Amino acid sequence: MPENDKQGLSVVTCTAPVNIAVIKYWGKRDEDLILPINSSLSVTLHQDQLKTTTTVACSRNFQQDRIWLNGKEEDINNPRLQSCLQEIRRFSRKRRNTGDSTSDASSVSHKVHICSVNNFPTAAGLASSASGYACLVYTLSQLFGVESEQLSAVARQGSGSACRSLYGGFVQWKLGTQLDGKDSLAEQVESESYWPELRVLILVVSAEQKSVGSTSGMHTSVETSQLLKYRADVVVPSRMEEMIRVIRERDFPAFGELTMKDSNQFHAICLDTYPPIFYLNNMSHRIISLVHRYNQYYGETRVAYTFDAGPNAVIYTLQDHLPEFVQVVRHFFPPEVNGEEFVKGLTVCSADLSEELKRDINMEPTPKGIRYIISTKAAQERWTHN
Ligand code: DP6
Repeated sequence: MPENDKQGLSVVTCTAPVNIAVIKYWGKRDEDLILPINSSLSVTLHQDQLKTTTTVACSRNFQQDRIWLNGKEEDINNPRLQSCLQEIRRFSRKRRNTGDSTSDASSVSHKVHICSVNNFPTAAGLASSASGYACLVYTLSQLFGVESEQLSAVARQGSGSACRSLYGGFVQWKLGTQLDGKDSLAEQVESESYWPELRVLILVVSAEQKSVGSTSGMHTSVETSQLLKYRADVVVPSRMEEMIRVIRERDFPAFGELTMKDSNQFHAICLDTYPPIFYLNNMSHRIISLVHRYNQYYGETRVAYTFDAGPNAVIYTLQDHLPEFVQVVRHFFPPEVNGEEFVKGLTVCSADLSEELKRDINMEPTPKGIRYIISTKAAQERWTHN
């Protein structure tokens, strides 16, 4: 419940997590409602390492809606922000009219001041729109007393991938068939506790800021890539079924292989886009080689990579293989010795590497190719605290 002081100021603060897709969303059939051309599936990450925190205040004394992102005021007239604000206010009015609302009856007509911060540096090149819009929509819903299964449809209108950050664990976003997008919603496939051995590493590579944002990138792909149509019509429907099955069976080799193939197909579509889009850089390619050589050494998929619209790798692996793989990364990408820790987040035990493994991988080390690693895992969705 929002805080209420004598000046009629209500304040709510919430947090929301980042999610990383293993079946990628790429392409819209409706750009205004943000309706995708294919379903997607992601893993929600732990908020101790990556989260957005949003505070929304509402008061009858506020003259206009305003928003600050990481301390800097941004344009509240951004159409996606406006869609989210309008939708939540519409839901709130609807609930009030049906007598369901727990919120202060007048607050929905008051202006809001929104303040949103991430606990991870924007410069790291990690997508923040998913956690950002999920957090905005959830915080507004708490302030205005909106409880709705449609919240993910509202977050979706901020940024497609944001709808998946409203749930924890393994989450699918079903593309839906309705024109109004009411059935284009996220839902949980399994909770984070279903597969506790699954671990996640984010390898933050040395790179400039990404050149093409996902919104404009996927727009050009829809316009120009013939592969994209094949992916949406033929590949993804069966991959979604298979991904859900391998998660339910906790079959890591199958999960890892499918995750890598789907990431590769997404980047193949970026190359098939005209003009082509390059999100991966040399360091990303080296990480891909390292993962395949490591898996080849063991004759099974122990580690899997996935890349979004940027060069950073997200690695999925199992707890048992984590220490050795981190040591492999440290060996082949010797970090800068600057006093800063190389592995941030969840502790990773140390491990020894055999000479045979190093020899078999047979790669030239690339000093300082990876700036740092964020060690994390799957987790639940969000918490409210006032
Ligand atoms: C490559 O959700 O950022 O991360 O809907 O235009 O805001 P908009 O795009 P966005 O796209 C994410 C694309 C991706 C894949 C994914 O997360 O599924």
